[in-house]
Amino acid sequence: SELALTPEQAAMVRRVIVVACGTSYHAGLVGRYAIETWARLPVDMDIASEYRYRDPVIEPDDLVIGITQSGETADTLAAMRLARERGAHVLAVTNVMGSQATRDADSVLFTRAGLEIGVAATKTFTSQVAAIYLLGLWLAQVRDHIDRERVAELVGELKALPRKIEETIDSCDRQVRAIARSHAEGRFFLYLGRHIGLPVCLEGALKMKEISYIPSAAYAAGEMKHGPIALLDETTPVVCIATDMPVLDKMLSNVAEVHARGAAVIAIGTEGSDEVAATADQALFVPRTDWILQPILAVVPLQLLAYYTARQLGRNVDQPRNLAKTVTVE
Ligand code: M6R
Repeated sequence: SELALTPEQAAMVRRVIVVACGTSYHAGLVGRYAIETWARLPVDMDIASEYRYRDPVIEPDDLVIGITQSGETADTLAAMRLARERGAHVLAVTNVMGSQATRDADSVLFTRAGLEIGVAATKTFTSQVAAIYLLGLWLAQVRDHIDRERVAELVGELKALPRKIEETIDSCDRQVRAIARSHAEGRFFLYLGRHIGLPVCLEGALKMKEISYIPSAAYAAGEMKHGPIALLDETTPVVCIATDMPVLDKMLSNVAEVHARGAAVIAIGTEGSDEVAATADQALFVPRTDWILQPILAVVPLQLLAYYTARQLGRNVDQPRNLAKTVTVE
């Protein structure tokens, strides 16, 4: 891709700022963990429609990443332009060659996911996350924060992900259909995650409301006691992301708390995790990979859950009401 940012310039970057909307914002949230962990660069995240009107502080050694599948989202473009006017290097991560974002940015990284027809972003989310992982690895290397063996290991894991996504679809499909059948008449879904699982649950909840129209909320599991736990009763399905992560034990205690309130726990775990199998009413397992890459797999059962729930309710999954694929006005 057209990465005009030289290794020398990348070595001088002091902060990364990600601006995006919707699903693309969630992809950026995943990327934040990778860039901070591997490249030891601070990453600020902002919803583009907020960033553009906030009079943000932007420094010349900031790298501003605009993530936009279409490359035409008005708010993301405006946020990128603002950053560029104020002297930052602006990198667009987009799926569409020749889009406005490619013209407005200093550098471009293409996700090359192919045309996405459905309004709900799915494969483009996965490819945005993969692109940011690669960017994070590159930043870590040019900044000398990662050794060759670790890079080789992670690249090997990244290459195995397409196969593992297929395995996930094959192994979860039937079970997810059954879960969708039993909860499609529900009035609310709660999604919980923490650490690298938090962006996954935000994305899962967005998919659910977007195509099934069932209200859903996503929370950092550590926030439960600060309010959302009051929502729970025996009728509430609670989708918990409990795949491998540095704070899995904490997530599992949150799952146990939810379970103790009588809610129906649907947990996504990494294969072989007995704790997840023991705590959840329904456990869906994804293949093992490096914990930092788990979101790419963990999101798949959530996309399927939204899809089958919407289908069960007779919704138009490709063209949900009130939504456009590309939001070219604010
Ligand atoms: O084209 P963009 O990535 O800039 O679009 C941003 C959002 O409008 C988009 O991700 C939206 O949230 C999706 N339809 C969600 O599935």
